Amino acid sequence: MTPKPTVLQNLPADLDETRLPKHVAVIMDGNGRWAKRQGLPRIMGHRRGVDALKELLRCCKDWGIPALTAYAFSTENWGRPLDEVDFLMTLFDRVLRQELREMVQENVKINFMGNLGALPRSLQAEIERSMTETQHNRSIQFTVAMNYGGREEILQACRAIATSVQQGLLQPDQIDEALFEKHLYTSNVGDPDLLIRTSGEMRVSNFLLWQMAYAELYITETLWPDFDRTEFHRALCVYQQRDRRFGKV
Ligand code: FPP
Repeated sequence: MTPKPTVLQNLPADLDETRLPKHVAVIMDGNGRWAKRQGLPRIMGHRRGVDALKELLRCCKDWGIPALTAYAFSTENWGRPLDEVDFLMTLFDRVLRQELREMVQENVKINFMGNLGALPRSLQAEIERSMTETQHNRSIQFTVAMNYGGREEILQACRAIATSVQQGLLQPDQIDEALFEKHLYTSNVGDPDLLIRTSGEMRVSNFLLWQMAYAELYITETLWPDFDRTEFHRALCVYQQRDRRFGKV
C-alpha cells in the first residue's frame, strides 16, 4: 500500500493540492555534461546529482506526494568505463550508509528494484539494511531503480507466470493486467503519474516500460544536478495544466 503523507509543508500557493501526482518517476540525466561544463570530472556530476535527488525527495515528502521512483543505474550502464561504474557503486554504498539515519527519522520508506543480486556484495548488504530499517515508515515511498531494465522486468514477470501455468496453478485466460502487475517490481506502488527526464533527451531508456502507459511526460533541458525545488515546482505546474483522459474523450 502507498504510504499516506502527513502534513503538507510549504506547498507553493499556485499548486492545487488535490491534483498533485501520487507517484513521480525521474530519469536523472545530464550529470556528466553538467560536470564537463564546470570543467570537472564526470564523477563530480554524479556527486552533485545525489544532492539534487535529496532535494527532490524532500519536496515530494513536504508537498504530500506519496511515491517517488528514481532511475539510478540501468542494466545498460554497466557498459560505461570501469572506473565510472566503480565510482557509482561506491557512491551508492556511501550515500546509503550516510543517509539511512535521516531517512529513518524522516519516516521515508526506501525500496529498491532491479536485478539486485548482480550488485557488489557490500552494496547489497546496505540495500537490505536500508529496506529493513525503513519498512514500516509511512511518509513517502522512495524507490531506487538499480541495475534495472524495463524489458528484463517484463521478461521475469512472463517467466514467473509461465511457470505457474506449467505447474497447473493458473489458466492462460486468467492472465490479465491486474495479475501481470502483481509480478512487476512496482506491485506495491503502482504506475507513475508523472515522468520527469532532465537534459532534454526524448527517450524513456528502458525505464518502467509497462508502467509508463499513461504517465504524463515532462522533459526539461535542465541538467540533473541543477534540477532543484524551483524546477520541480515548474514541472508540477505543467502537470496540473494537462488534461489526463486515459484514452477517453
Ligand atoms: C545519468 O547522467 C546519471 C546516472 C547514470 C547516475 C545517477 C545517479 C545518481 C544521481 C546518484 C543517486 C544515488 C542514490 C544512492 C540513489 P549521465 O552520466 O548519463 O550524464 P550525461 O548524459 O551528461 O553523460
